[in-house]
Amino acid sequence: MSTPPLPEYRVKLPKDLVAGLAHCASALPDWQLTDGLLSAATMTAYRQAMADLPHVPEFAATCDQLLNAPDGDGFAVLELAELLDATGIQYDARVITALLSLIARPLRAFDRWPLWKPLGTNLAKDPMRATGAGYNPMHLDIVNSTWPPDYSALLCVRPDPKGRGHSLVSQVRRAVDRLSYVDAELLTHPKYEDGDFYELTGVGEEWKPFPIIDGHSPLGGFVRFTAKMLADADPDDPYTKAARALERELISGQRRFPLGRGDLLIVNQHLSCHGREALGDGQEDVPEDERRLLLQIFLRREEALS
Ligand SMILES: [Fe+2]
Repeated sequence: MSTPPLPEYRVKLPKDLVAGLAHCASALPDWQLTDGLLSAATMTAYRQAMADLPHVPEFAATCDQLLNAPDGDGFAVLELAELLDATGIQYDARVITALLSLIARPLRAFDRWPLWKPLGTNLAKDPMRATGAGYNPMHLDIVNSTWPPDYSALLCVRPDPKGRGHSLVSQVRRAVDRLSYVDAELLTHPKYEDGDFYELTGVGEEWKPFPIIDGHSPLGGFVRFTAKMLADADPDDPYTKAARALERELISGQRRFPLGRGDLLIVNQHLSCHGREALGDGQEDVPEDERRLLLQIFLRREEALS
């Protein structure tokens, strides 16, 4: 029986690239950060270490096409389980950081967290938050900033043992195009606020209140949407209604898929929102160190830094 084709958004690394990365992994230097970004010296060292590996240009081109085509879905899932096995690493994500440096510049936006921020499952947290166990509705990461990260990425270290918590991604530009003129116009007004803004680097200034549609080109601006900000909003307010209309369109167009161990989801935040379905019932029966664990990292486009 032949195996079914991979969904078009999944990227499997060729075996000789995995072998090459595993071979060079131990020689990769520790990373250094400058203003939250992977330093220029680290970028150069990582790229040089991978320069002669097979299939590197094709890998970078495939990721570029999946992530950045303006009419594309704006996301990719890299299958890295074999790479994790081959390098014998679980939490030291250096070789994966090097791989990401082929796509864009790794960014640690949260001053108090490491470059790869662990997102475990905490039953005491608000269920809709990243480390909660409930439905995490459609949103952009660091939405209330003048310069949200260009890409948001999640590496699955341990899937939900209860088999749920599917990822959700939706192309936000298409969703906007399906709105009525009146709703789309309302979303251009600075009438929206979301949470706190502190101890952040590399994402500009706080924007409060912000417009959802900023009027810039698809790859230059953002559709600053998060359904989380609507939980406490007046449901009869026309601005809330317009944002709910956008959420409905996002849900109608969303893609839904599980992340397995070693899967790395990358979302281009200029083009797509993301979310997560609720984890499986009975999380209280799972020890905390066996619950779902993701590592989050952000990326900044190199062109945006020059
Ligand atoms: Fe998120």
